[in-house]
Amino acid sequence: MLGLFIVLEGIDGSGKTTQAKKLVNFLRSRGRRVWLTREPTDGSIGREIRRHLQAKDIDNESLQKLFLQDRREHVREINSKLREGYDVVCDRYTLSTIAYGSLNIAIEKLKKLNKEFLKPDITIIIDVEPEIAFRRITRARSRNEYFDTLSKLARVRQAYLSLQDFYPNTFLVDGSKSIEECWEEIRRIVQNFLQPASCCN
Ligand code: ADP
Ligand code: TYD
Repeated sequence: MLGLFIVLEGIDGSGKTTQAKKLVNFLRSRGRRVWLTREPTDGSIGREIRRHLQAKDIDNESLQKLFLQDRREHVREINSKLREGYDVVCDRYTLSTIAYGSLNIAIEKLKKLNKEFLKPDITIIIDVEPEIAFRRITRARSRNEYFDTLSKLARVRQAYLSLQDFYPNTFLVDGSKSIEECWEEIRRIVQNFLQPASCCN
């Protein structure tokens, strides 16, 4: 049986990585096999992207092209894990390219470019005010990356809000709540997809 493909999205500092780990633990506690992954990936293109994010030495259009290349390889791996029966929990995916890319590129073009990729079964957008996210990331990081300015995060957040209908089964979660409250919302969403089919026939 195919595993579930679950994607977490949201601006930097929204809490994706924190919630992804909780989700993995939860799914494993239910006896499921889980693969936690992320974009940019840990592969060679992903590593190149991380260098550019730090160095800020590339324009956004070229950067998003690298993300698309990274994703093409990543989706092959995701597909094979799903076929082996693993649930795949992915920290960022297509909506990141569309939302961050839209700072400099027409959003319709970005949507078209991302249609080719495998659709997630569940997409969770963690929505948080940029001021809160910005405070969190400046506390957690020594230096700001490519997109970590308040005004950019505010625009990316609006783009995410406009993307709720890009995939079916997309859910908006309030990321300004505590880690545990936020997790409770996510757990409830995912739980609904784990329910066994009707027991009584
Ligand atoms: P992202 O992966 O979206 O950038 P992280 O999960 O890495 O976000 O969280 C960024 C920082 O904010 C971390 O220091 C984390 O502990 C903290 N954090 C995450 N979620 C919350 C929350 N709901 N409330 C307060 N702090 C949080
Ligand atoms: P990451 O470390 O994942 O960010 P976070 O702070 O959320 O953990 O860094 C990835 C950065 O790259 C982040 O600013 C979002 C951006 N990005 C894109 O611009 N396009 C994409 O397709 C992806 C996957 C990420």
